[in-house]
Amino acid sequence: MRFSDSFVQEVVDRTDIEELIGRYVTLKRSGSNLMGCCPFHSEKTPSFSVSPSKKLFFCFGCQAGGSVITFVQKAENLDFPEAVEYLANRAGIPLPRESEDPTAPKGVSRKRVLDMNLEAARFFRACLFDPAVGGEGMRYFRENRRMSEATVKHFGLGFAPNSFNALTDHMHRLGYSDEELIAACLCGKSQKTGRAYDYFRNRVIFPIIDPSGNVVAFGGRVMDDSKPKYLNSSDTPAFKKSRHLFALNFAKNDCAERMILCEGYMDVIALHAAGFSSAVATLGTAITPEHARIFAKYTKKVIISYDSDEAGQNAAKKAMRILGEVGMDVRVLRMNGAKDPDEFIRNFGADRFRRLLEESKTGFEYQAERVLAQYDLAIGSDKIKASGDLCSIIAEYWSAVEREVYLSYASQKLGLPVEVLKNSVEQIRRKNKRETVARESREAQASLKNFGDRINPEASSDPRAVAAEEAVLGLLILFEEYRSAVEKGEIPLSDEHFITSFNRRVFCAVMERHASPSGFRFELLGADFEPDEIGRIEKMEVARRQLSQNGPEVFRSAVNVLRGISERKEKAGGDLHSHLAYLRSKKANIHNRKD
Ligand code: CTP
Ligand code: MN
Repeated sequence: MRFSDSFVQEVVDRTDIEELIGRYVTLKRSGSNLMGCCPFHSEKTPSFSVSPSKKLFFCFGCQAGGSVITFVQKAENLDFPEAVEYLANRAGIPLPRESEDPTAPKGVSRKRVLDMNLEAARFFRACLFDPAVGGEGMRYFRENRRMSEATVKHFGLGFAPNSFNALTDHMHRLGYSDEELIAACLCGKSQKTGRAYDYFRNRVIFPIIDPSGNVVAFGGRVMDDSKPKYLNSSDTPAFKKSRHLFALNFAKNDCAERMILCEGYMDVIALHAAGFSSAVATLGTAITPEHARIFAKYTKKVIISYDSDEAGQNAAKKAMRILGEVGMDVRVLRMNGAKDPDEFIRNFGADRFRRLLEESKTGFEYQAERVLAQYDLAIGSDKIKASGDLCSIIAEYWSAVEREVYLSYASQKLGLPVEVLKNSVEQIRRKNKRETVARESREAQASLKNFGDRINPEASSDPRAVAAEEAVLGLLILFEEYRSAVEKGEIPLSDEHFITSFNRRVFCAVMERHASPSGFRFELLGADFEPDEIGRIEKMEVARRQLSQNGPEVFRSAVNVLRGISERKEKAGGDLHSHLAYLRSKKANIHNRKD
């Protein structure tokens, strides 16, 4: 739904930015701002700043920035209206009713997609339970996968017939159009005819249900060895892969103590059937920081129970890091004699699995044991390598207490004095620190470039013009009097003076907002721009805010630079192409003169 400007402003006004962001980031006061480590990229030296008075944030490293709404959009992976709703709920502001909103966007709404998904889930389930249609699917679940009927029903499993139009026809009868079915990713769109056809065919179906009970997406598995093994819904207005976990709708009721993270749908189902109902899985993607934040919302401890092969173990290492970053107590489970939890339970039963859970290792123990298993400590050269590896692992820990505990463990295992190992760890830490600082600044530089290019692809065509555009926009955003001067024509500036289309768009949006009854407010730009774009705009504002010289003469001269450039561009022939040619010839002239 689209909210009115005044509603959005009320939500922003009643949100305490310090308290909101403080729940994700530890903030320390620095002058009139607050600083912390950016939650949107990985860093150990703080470059994330929050201005409580302006209610804006900005990261000097990755250039994420914007209002409290932008923050929630990025942190919780929501779109603009969803983020407004989230903050309104948080602040206890009742939402305006939908009927009061004549400007609701067209296109397929989230609600409509959820309705379609529910109908589709009913259809798939009916197919599975109809022996003439879904007999093969039911046999697959019951015999090949040894599921009870209760489990099949509990998870709402289904079957998609081997047909291009079974679901499509059914949904047409319920009044859904081709366009809607394609938007919901229940149908593909035929290249030839442009018409919808069933996306899931001849597959058993796993509905993905969110914690509120909505069917948000589907996964479908073949019943033999053909490829692809699984087909999953793509992102739709109701679904983002990186924002959902399979079976969270059940796990949320049993997560107080811990949750179990698996790789696959089948692992989760097997675990729930065996009584471990806190198991969840990501949906055919590696775990993301968004997933980690979901875990943090529900529990304190996660036991990673990935496949026992090399790929699974490497993925576990990565998951450990990502979950560790949101402060989870992370454990890793080691399995022998089975490739995944599903197979383990089938082979050895629930009690043995419970024991594995109890024996699951902390991140350090898990890594240390992997190292120790690789070497023969009776051999001198192996012992040296093992101690090097262990010290590197210990050096990664930021807490001195943890390092002490692990050092004594390593000293005992290796039969070397603690002091010797400690020296080595401290040396590695000093080296790592130097490298981290260097890498972070390299990465920040690189992301600066890429970022600029992606958001404003024309930015590299004429850096001087772009700098002038950004100065002008930064000042317009900061100062109402400049906006008024431009509006009244006291300072002659129009969208035609902007060379890059992104900055032109920003200019138009700022001036339109200025002319509207509610006036310009930074956070309202969020309705017209993506969060990454908002970061870019915020950067212009921050860049100006940091300068002491922002008087009218500065604004006038920036405008004049812009006008000068665009006039020359006009003379040179109008379009960007000839403008570039003009710049090149100018450069060539300078060179010629030098020669
Ligand atoms: N996956 C996927 N697409 C594929 C293969 C896998 O989306 N082509 C995802 C699925 O979510 C799957 C998970 O990755 O559940 C783990 O893959 P895998 O271990 O191959 O599948 P299992 O769940 O173990 O399935 P099964 O036991 O049926 O082979
Ligand atoms: Mn499996």
